[in-house]
Order: sequence, then structure tokens, then C-alpha cells
Amino acid sequence: DENLPPPLSARFKESFAYPTIKERLPSILAKIADTTFRNKVQIKEKYGEDGCEDLKSIAGCVSKLRNEIMTGKKLIPIQDKRSDVKTWNDYLDEMTVNEGSTPQWFVSPWLYVECYMYRRVQEAVENCSVLRQYDVFMEQKRQSLIDSDQPTLILMNYLFTVTNDIQSGKSLDIQKLFKQLIQVSLWGNKCDLSISGGADNAQKSCPLDQVNTLCDFILRDDLDKIWQYVRDKAPCRVDIVLDNAGFELVTDLCLAEFLTSSKLASQIYFHAKSFPWFVSDVTQSDFDFTFQHFMQSNSLATSQFVTQWKNRLDSGTWKFVVNDFWTSPFPYCEMRKHSPDLYSELSNSSLLIFKGDLNYRKLVGDRSWPPSTDFDTSLQGFSPAPLCTLRTLKADVVTGLCEGKAETIEKQDKNWMINGQWAVIEFAEGMKK
Ligand code: F6P
Ligand code: MG
Repeated sequence: DENLPPPLSARFKESFAYPTIKERLPSILAKIADTTFRNKVQIKEKYGEDGCEDLKSIAGCVSKLRNEIMTGKKLIPIQDKRSDVKTWNDYLDEMTVNEGSTPQWFVSPWLYVECYMYRRVQEAVENCSVLRQYDVFMEQKRQSLIDSDQPTLILMNYLFTVTNDIQSGKSLDIQKLFKQLIQVSLWGNKCDLSISGGADNAQKSCPLDQVNTLCDFILRDDLDKIWQYVRDKAPCRVDIVLDNAGFELVTDLCLAEFLTSSKLASQIYFHAKSFPWFVSDVTQSDFDFTFQHFMQSNSLATSQFVTQWKNRLDSGTWKFVVNDFWTSPFPYCEMRKHSPDLYSELSNSSLLIFKGDLNYRKLVGDRSWPPSTDFDTSLQGFSPAPLCTLRTLKADVVTGLCEGKAETIEKQDKNWMINGQWAVIEFAEGMKK
């Protein structure tokens, strides 16, 4: 559509897309090569020579990819046996037609080329003989969960008191707790391995204090509207489209626990990625590891919750689901076309909670909207159910801000859109059903 603002792209040198493709992505790939090298002994023990060959081939593919990026090559078709290959390659063709030439790293839409990079990393893994389940980011993700043990414990203990009070019928300010746990989950999105280039980025400060100290950093806050909506609908199905593993996932589980035990939600669906994505995103095995890690905890709160959460998953009160659409390059306004099943599944929900920066970019099509654009407008018709976003800003796109807000903040912090310090909580009720 000619009337829409253009997608973000590294061809705009002053945008965050440019340093991302020039430096951040190559450094993420360099780190993968390091990891494979360090894993050699361990892999050799477990898988023998074949494992070593696979590691070498992953490292080779990844450094070739790094070179393609750094020299601004054209994107090439994906070649492996994953069932999503056709989708990716058809889209490459479609982009070639749209752009008038084959997509290139420093020319094409940022969202598309960045997603493509993670798919290429997966291609390297898919083409292995014994390491087809290998996760090049596993170590980093696990370490960041372990490094967040202390704030995790604080949060678990707090939630333990809250849920016990709920159970014993004590009168509580549910609205206040709702807003608090949503904000804990919001700020959980600050922890991110891709923005720090893999540098230490675990949760350090107390997650509950943070809610108070950071509230001025929320650029738009629709919590009141979300609360009214959920209260009226309760008990209802809530879907959380997950972002990162580590502390962020802990905060999402805690939010889910609160919604369930307060009976605001009757069911929670967790949506996750089917292969490693944007360094820290949650896969099935990250989800499982989080539970395993909790089982080893000495804390009463943590061990009770983990038992309860397993029961919830077994009984279907909670569901963990993956879908290849989440690891596709499409903005969400194209979900209906490319993944009608997922779209109709989401439309069974009463509230979709989209976590994090990438989900936000996909919601608004990663276009350079003026920040005061209506949030609904920027969704471009994506409305399977009422939805909200809990996102800290790590890319230079935002909508839904009131007139003049962006200019004011810009004076205060020129990196406000990319440093993960600022956030938005936005709600779109969409079409009434
Ligand atoms: O690299 C692009 C980007 O959107 C960053 O701006 C951000 O660091 C990262 O991907 C993903 O962030 P999140 O985990 O919050 O989606
Ligand atoms: Mg992420």
C-alpha cells in the first residue's frame, strides 16, 4: 500500500536498523561460532565424531552467513527439510518482485532480513546429521535464568503470599495486584540477550520495587482500560504470546499464576517459538528447562508453584503451544492470510498479551509511523481478539503516543527508542464481538 509509511530498513543510515545489521547481527553470529568451539569436547563425548562434524558445519555456515551480511550480499533461498521452507522461499520471490530486485541486507525491510538471519542459522542446524536439536543460544539462555535466581525468589515468595491470601478468602485489592503483576511482566522484557549482544543482562534489581521506580518510564499506559475489560470478562481465556526465556518467562508465569488463582482467567495459552529465535526467545526446551531449574530450588514457594503449574499444564488449564508462524517474517496484519488456523485459534481468546519488542514490531508492521499514529490504525486490521502489548522499546518504532510526547522524551533521552529503558502498555479492543 502506497499510503503506508515505509518499513524500517538499514538503508536509512541514521535508524537503528543500520547499526543492527552492520554490527549487532554479525556479533551475534560471531558468538555462535565461539559457542560451537567451546562445546566441542562435550559434544564429542555425547555424539562422537559425527557430532564434531556437525559442529564444524554449523560454525562454517554461520561464518559464511556473517560474511554475506557484512558484504551486503543478496539473500539466497533456504535449503533444508523444515516444512516452512516453501513459505520462506515464496516470500523471497514475492519480495524480489515487490522490490524489483533480490532482497539485500542493507536495502530490504529490517524485519524481514533480521528474521531471515535466524532462519538461516536454523538451516545450518537442520542440515546436521546428529545435532538437529542443537540450540546455539541455549547456554546463554540457561545462564541468564540462573543469574536471575535472586529476583526470581523474591517474586515467587511474594506471589506465594498473594495466592495463599486469595485462597484463604482474605479481601485483597485485586485491581492493584493485577496492575502490579502486569508491570512486573512488562519490565521483565528489559532482560534481553540480543540487545546487549549477549552481554550480561539478567535481572538484578528487585522486580517489585521496579514497578514503582519505573512507572514514569511508561510512555503510554492503558492499564485501567485493560483492567476494566478483564474484570468484566472474567473468568476468561487469556493468551500470552511469549518473548524471552530467563527472567522474562518467570514474570510471565507469575502473571499467569495470578490471573488463574484470582479467577480472572479460566485458561491460559502460552505461545512459543518452534526453533531458536532472536537469541533469547522461549522454545519448548527453554520452557522445560525453566521447570527443571525450579524443581531443584530449595524454596517452598518455588517448588509448590512448579508442582501446581505442571498440574495446570496436565489438566489443560494452561496450554503451551508452538506455531511456525511466530518464526516467520510476516507482520501480524498478514497472519490471517498466511496462517488462518492460528488466526482463528487466537480469536477464541478474550485477551491476547503480546510480550516484547519484536512482537510489537510485527504488530505495527515495523513501519516508520509517526509516534502519534493511532495504535489501532498501526495494527492494519489485525484483530483476532482484544489485545494488549507489554513492550520495552528496543527498536525505533512506536505508535499510540499522545501528540508531543515523542518530542518531549527525545529531549530527555535521545536513545529512548532503543535502549530498553522506556515502555508502552497499549490496548486495542478491536471489533466488538
Ligand atoms: O534486533 C532487533 C530487536 O527488535 C531489538 O531491537 C531487540 O533487541 C530484539 O530484537 C528483540 O527484543 P525482544 O526480545 O524484546 O523482542
Ligand atoms: Mg526476544
